[in-house]
Amino acid sequence: MNVSIIGAGNMAKGLAAVFTAAGHRVTIAARDKVKGEAAAQEAGNGATAGSIAEAAAADIVVLAVPYQGAFEAIEAAGGLVGKIVIDITNPMTEDFSGLSIGHTTSAAEEIQKKFPHARLVKAFNTVFAQVLQNGGKIAGKPVTVFVAGDDAEARTKVVELAQDAGFETQVTGSLSTARYLEPVAALNITLGYGLGHGVAIAPTWQRAA
Ligand SMILES: NC(=O)c1ccc[n+]([C@@H]2O[C@H](COP(=O)([O-])OP(=O)(O)OC[C@H]3O[C@@H](n4cnc5c(N)ncnc54)[C@H](OP(=O)(O)O)[C@@H]3O)[C@@H](O)[C@H]2O)c1
Repeated sequence: MNVSIIGAGNMAKGLAAVFTAAGHRVTIAARDKVKGEAAAQEAGNGATAGSIAEAAAADIVVLAVPYQGAFEAIEAAGGLVGKIVIDITNPMTEDFSGLSIGHTTSAAEEIQKKFPHARLVKAFNTVFAQVLQNGGKIAGKPVTVFVAGDDAEARTKVVELAQDAGFETQVTGSLSTARYLEPVAALNITLGYGLGHGVAIAPTWQRAA
């Protein structure tokens, strides 16, 4: 698949590294050309840099920007009409002490509301960037990517991408289940940073055979 990642920060680099390692073509679409090129180089495996305006040419576009920047980023990408868009954002407060929205909506739903023709899928928001740098594994075991979305075909494509890159996946249902996934990421941050358990942690979901 061709994947464009909007953003050139920790998650953009980490996702670019795991996707390219699985053989996908990745373009880092940054608002700052120099940062984009540096991020692509750091990600390695042939990742390239491009502009946000060009991101819509990919099969899948990843929003690896802060929640507050997601709206501007999609506008800059031309609205992403008909495009599969992976929302990895967590709407954290500025001091990371909590979520700025939740319970009755989610970042994913707010983005979808503003851009109803993008095929939004929430995924990867519970995986720390440092875990991505470790190939998406903890102690050699793949971590879980939770996948929420209203468009079943888009959800399946994102599951395929995540599984290709070596992750376990768990579909959680409609996009509104992002209301549950975003607090899980906040719990992850509380455990990892707040309570000092470090970032080599990830939530998973298990069932008895
Ligand atoms: N870090 C994690 O472990 C983690 C885990 C799961 C989910 N997430 C989520 O992933 C997203 C990215 O996190 P991160 O840690 O990668 O952040 P980061 O390292 O701070 O990188 C953010 C990137 O977004 C770009 N950006 C900001 N506003 C933008 C806009 N309006 N248009 C285009 N680009 C914009 C920044 O560009 P400039 O450099 O030009 O400012 C930067 O390249 C966040 O929503 C976060 O909640 C993070």
